[in-house]
Amino acid sequence: MARTLITSALPYINGIKHLGNLVGSQLPADLYARYCRARGDEVLFLCATDEHGTPAEIAAQKAGKPVAEFCAQLHEAQAEIAKGFRLSFDHYGRSSSDQNRKLTQHFAKRLFDEGLVEEVSETQVYSETDGRFLPDRYIEGTCPNCGYDSARGDQCDNCTKQLDPTDLINPHSTISGATDLEERETKHLYLRQSKMRDALNNWIDEKKDWPILTTSIAKKWLNDGDGLQDRGITRDLKWGVPVQKGDAPWEGMEGKVFYVWFDAPIEYIACANEWTEANGLTDADWERWWRTDKGADDVRYVQFMGKDNVPFHTLSFPVTMLGSNEPWKMVDYIKSFNYLNYDGGQFSTSRGRGVFMDQALSILPADYWRWWLLSHAPESSDSEFTWENFQQSVNKDLSDVLGNFVSRITKFCRSKFSESVPSGGTYGPVEEALIADLSDKLKAYETHMTNMDVRKSAMELRGIWVAGNEYLQTTAPWATFKTDPEQAAAQVRLGLNLIGLYARLSAPFIPDTAEKIQAALNMSNLDWPTDIAATLGEFKEGHAFTVPDNLFVKIDDDQRVEWQEKFAGKRED
Ligand code: 2FM
Ligand code: ZN
Repeated sequence: MARTLITSALPYINGIKHLGNLVGSQLPADLYARYCRARGDEVLFLCATDEHGTPAEIAAQKAGKPVAEFCAQLHEAQAEIAKGFRLSFDHYGRSSSDQNRKLTQHFAKRLFDEGLVEEVSETQVYSETDGRFLPDRYIEGTCPNCGYDSARGDQCDNCTKQLDPTDLINPHSTISGATDLEERETKHLYLRQSKMRDALNNWIDEKKDWPILTTSIAKKWLNDGDGLQDRGITRDLKWGVPVQKGDAPWEGMEGKVFYVWFDAPIEYIACANEWTEANGLTDADWERWWRTDKGADDVRYVQFMGKDNVPFHTLSFPVTMLGSNEPWKMVDYIKSFNYLNYDGGQFSTSRGRGVFMDQALSILPADYWRWWLLSHAPESSDSEFTWENFQQSVNKDLSDVLGNFVSRITKFCRSKFSESVPSGGTYGPVEEALIADLSDKLKAYETHMTNMDVRKSAMELRGIWVAGNEYLQTTAPWATFKTDPEQAAAQVRLGLNLIGLYARLSAPFIPDTAEKIQAALNMSNLDWPTDIAATLGEFKEGHAFTVPDNLFVKIDDDQRVEWQEKFAGKRED
């Protein structure tokens, strides 16, 4: 049995994420996890909240809560919303877990022993006005690489370059706006990334099948003179993984914690350990996913993330993993995404512009969102959410094409025959042509899903739904019934079987709807179809079903306009 390990980028703890965040990692990761499971793979699908660093401290301060308490609450809130979107994580962990603390401290010791972590005395930005050393993210200024004027001290959001605060032109404190910044002496740990350049280059060169978006970003930073600069991995914060050498203290590092980007990806591994502990399993159970000396050599590991995360996953984290000189399972494929924009601009967490995950679920069921987001995933370029497009997609694809098909067939059968699959008639050339067409479409769908081509998969699935509608259009069982009820029975039987096929194929995209259909059609065999002809013969005469409630409700224009106004950007976070 194939074994697939899937991780989604870990959402920051600092607030509820918007739909752009969702479609950039967690949602497509879920699509893939569901597909792999349906195909019979053994899947471990992990995600967690990324809880350390200054964003957490700032958000907790704003909420007037101790940071640990704030994180615990936001973790619960995010976990609940993830459930609402039917994100099928095997475990939703926390980077602030004991398991991650231990593992992060372990990696630091290994890297130190391998000569890849060094202690450096350095000057650090100190703000007289704020009375403290300023962590990278508390400093903003102009990016020396692209000239963007709101680059943060750790990374430029415009060109994705990883930065140090001292690189910034005209830096200021984001706490107070103060510009009276000065550099003072302090000791920090540095990860000697540059020593790993060859190892990284060799590793990335092996990845011939990676999406261009991923490799181009990785290669750019790897070969750009200073893209692989040595990076400080400690910070002067209270909240984080305390700097230790394994379980021993680290002299001179008292009061410091690891940089959030050092411990966050390690949580991918620690999360598997949390999963085993939460489920009464043993260490061997997580190690067989993560240690190539303990069974993980036949695992395929796929990561999902937005493009801004790619440098950390192709450079820094691999340095941690490879540099440890221990047999950790390395990522096999990185699926990365561009950005989703919102109605003519950007989503904005600070201004509350756009739809946030909790809000989305409060107005419509998860499947509506899942379908739109996945079928418009920002793969080859940035994409844009507009309410018009959303309305159209829900009304046409979901309601007119899929919903209408299910409702027409089941209602027609109930009214002319009964609530069970009718007998009589045979499948002829039209049905055979449909089976041939669907067999091709199924193959194409599987290829796109296997390749994680999300939009193409959605379009193929839609094509499969459309084929059913066209069949109904052509054969018109309601007309056939008047002259040849036996033949109409065969057409309805095929239609009912098509619904069964749709439930299975659609489940990775719209799991709740698939479940509703499965319940209504009394489906016991939910195996992934391998042979369309066999699948379309599965519901035999007499198989009982019920007419499901309307699967989708259309969005009308008034409703659309109301939502458009509501989410234009007033939310207070
Ligand atoms: O960009 C982000 O939202 C980060 N919290 C992603 C972290 S991914 C992983 F490395 F932890
Ligand atoms: Zn820049």
